Amino acid sequence: MTDLSNITLDTLKAGWISPHLHAAVLRLDKLHPEVSGNKWFKLKYNISIARENNKGILTFGGAYSNHIAATAMACKLANIPCIGIIRGEELEQNLNHTLKLAKDNGMQLRFTDRNSYRNKTSFATQYPDYLIVPEGGHNAAGAKGCEEILTIHPTNDYSHILCAAGTGTTLAGLINSAAPHQKVIGIPVLKGATFLEQEVAALLSPDHRAEWELLYQFHGGGYGKSSRELINFMNSLYQETLLPTDIIYTGKMLMAFHQLSLQSWFPAGSRVLMIHTGGLQGNLSLAPNVLLF
Ligand SMILES: Cc1ncc(COP(=O)(O)O)c(C=O)c1O
Repeated sequence: MTDLSNITLDTLKAGWISPHLHAAVLRLDKLHPEVSGNKWFKLKYNISIARENNKGILTFGGAYSNHIAATAMACKLANIPCIGIIRGEELEQNLNHTLKLAKDNGMQLRFTDRNSYRNKTSFATQYPDYLIVPEGGHNAAGAKGCEEILTIHPTNDYSHILCAAGTGTTLAGLINSAAPHQKVIGIPVLKGATFLEQEVAALLSPDHRAEWELLYQFHGGGYGKSSRELINFMNSLYQETLLPTDIIYTGKMLMAFHQLSLQSWFPAGSRVLMIHTGGLQGNLSLAPNVLLF
């Protein structure tokens, strides 16, 4: 369905990176234009479970959910039906780019008010022929798929692994599969997301050995909030390295790396691997010409 050989491991060279560090980016964004980044890994086992049980997939998301768009495409490729429960009844009148894409790829969209959205258990009884996949693909099958991310290229000689965190599913998969000498660092894009400690811990295998940490100071104002500083950083990063990033997740993760590098946070000799988790389609919500790519 997708070709893992599209994923490259690229050295990142920029004037501001300390000469005592080696930095590289694992380009999961190159996997597939629509099921890109971490999405394919989070959906892989959910889709096989649905298939084995002859079910479709029902999942949840907000207006700009990368997960909704990716699930629609993944189900289309796997030829199974899917339903997206979308938070906000008002969105139905005027579908944005993400929701239109999901609909065009065959997802049935059901718009609900915020109260019914919160009551997720009712959907299981209402749709018995569908496997319920939580928002953002946050379940054990999602984390299991993400355990494969570090196996695509040799990554054992990196000392630090950096990844943006929304639900923490990708981070959990990385921690489960990282080597004992590696430290896995999550950059939450939500403000005050201390709940992630527990959410991540719940998906860890008892025999994980890598150290991990969440750094909370890089949310840039909160989920979906983008500042002029972030846009400028993403543009100059692209000009200097040709690395495209997205405004919600990977731009903030790279900006975190930039600041940590300037603060000499990483010990000299560190080899830092950043996971590009995709999400570039989210940039389409920006006005034209805001980004240089
Ligand atoms: C581009 C991108 N990066 C990172 C994440 C965060 O992943 P997770 O929810 O597994 O923490 C998401 C959400 O799925 C995403 O769309």
